[in-house]
Amino acid sequence: QLLENPSGALVIPELDAVMVQPCYFSLVIPTFNESRNIGAMLQRLVALLDEAYADRYEIIVVDDDSPDRTWEVALGAAEQLPRVRVIRRQTERGLATAVIRGWQAAGGEVIGVIDGDLQHPPEVLLQLLGEIDAGADFVIASRHVEGGGISEWGFVRRLLSRGAQLLGLVIAPTVVGRVSDPMSGYFMLRRRALAGVELNPKGYKISLEALGRGRIDRIAEVGYVFQERQAGESKVTARQYVDYIHHLLKLRSRGRVSRMRNQIPFPIGRFLRFGFVGLSGVVVDMAVLYLLHSAASPLGLAWGLTRSKIIASEVAILNNFCWNDRWTFKDLAGQQKSVGQWVKRFVKFNLICLLGLTLNVLILNLLFNLFGINAYVANLLAIVIVTFWNFWINLKLNWRV
Ligand code: GDD
Ligand code: MN
Repeated sequence: QLLENPSGALVIPELDAVMVQPCYFSLVIPTFNESRNIGAMLQRLVALLDEAYADRYEIIVVDDDSPDRTWEVALGAAEQLPRVRVIRRQTERGLATAVIRGWQAAGGEVIGVIDGDLQHPPEVLLQLLGEIDAGADFVIASRHVEGGGISEWGFVRRLLSRGAQLLGLVIAPTVVGRVSDPMSGYFMLRRRALAGVELNPKGYKISLEALGRGRIDRIAEVGYVFQERQAGESKVTARQYVDYIHHLLKLRSRGRVSRMRNQIPFPIGRFLRFGFVGLSGVVVDMAVLYLLHSAASPLGLAWGLTRSKIIASEVAILNNFCWNDRWTFKDLAGQQKSVGQWVKRFVKFNLICLLGLTLNVLILNLLFNLFGINAYVANLLAIVIVTFWNFWINLKLNWRV
């Protein structure tokens, strides 16, 4: 099979068609201006992998002709390290194609990728490989599962990262919803999951490309802490966000195929419980509104409507949260029992519901003003859509499966 077809799609060859020495594991390191990191990175990786996998692995550095001559440093290191190969690309550019080009040149039964700037802790590789050995087709290092985290990110970066994930969950849910940290560039998979599949090199997040197009049934995740950069600088610019959205739309447009292949069953039972809790919230909301606002209520407060309604809503949100935590998502909440975690979930639940409310108002206006739909019918439709939103985003970003 050709490595590249006329449409520009890239294809990873089957193991029996590779031109190089086959091995168990191939690790690709994409680099651009990492001359100050790549030496230490290679030393650490080789020390680690030599011990666990002796001569059954290879490391492939794919450098895009970096102005700081990263390729030269890597080649120098490779002289002492026989399991390291270096590819210097002079005509092509970009993170995603660099990774795919590396895999095309790889001889491994398992293929993986790691950043070249030491932000991905190398030790986690052994856990990732362990999951593959245990039968996973695809395993990703995640910041959002137990043992995972981010060392020193500011609020804005966290928000951008989560915003990107949120966008993905809405545009291409069957792809982005498959893992807790779809933005991660630290993962590996079995070659057979990807060999022969047409890959679109435009995508920036290569993990999504694999998750969306690969033959992947069993997925595993391992927690890791994203380290601070010690040297050099990040290459992420606004351009990457635009590419990301473009990529999501592409993956979505062929979503039917991936949905069939990925077989993500919609969690109907959970959704029904969520809907039921939502209805109980309506009752609570009404009751509290009556108690606070009505002069005839036993409390006899007769507070203003807005003030009463705000309190009623918050009590209803608290009610819904408690039931969802205890019932709808019980199995997921059970793993994180501390009070701090509980409060965090509650705050997140509030934020997601608040976004949902905004969405509700927007949809209502859209349906009513633009399509001339009866306001009550429009509101009912908006409520249905927002219920799905609240459920899905809470499931994925708050209680997390
Ligand atoms: N060959 C090649 N070509 N390599 C590149 C290019 C390119 O155009 N652009 C970036 N790289 C390399 C970098 O040298 C580094 O080794 C790795 O790809 C990641 O790039 P960074 O610029 O360090 O990305 P980051 O730290 O902001 O992003 C990280 O976090 C994301 C999660 O938020 C990366 O780990 C991403 O992979 C990850 O998804
Ligand atoms: Mn980085």
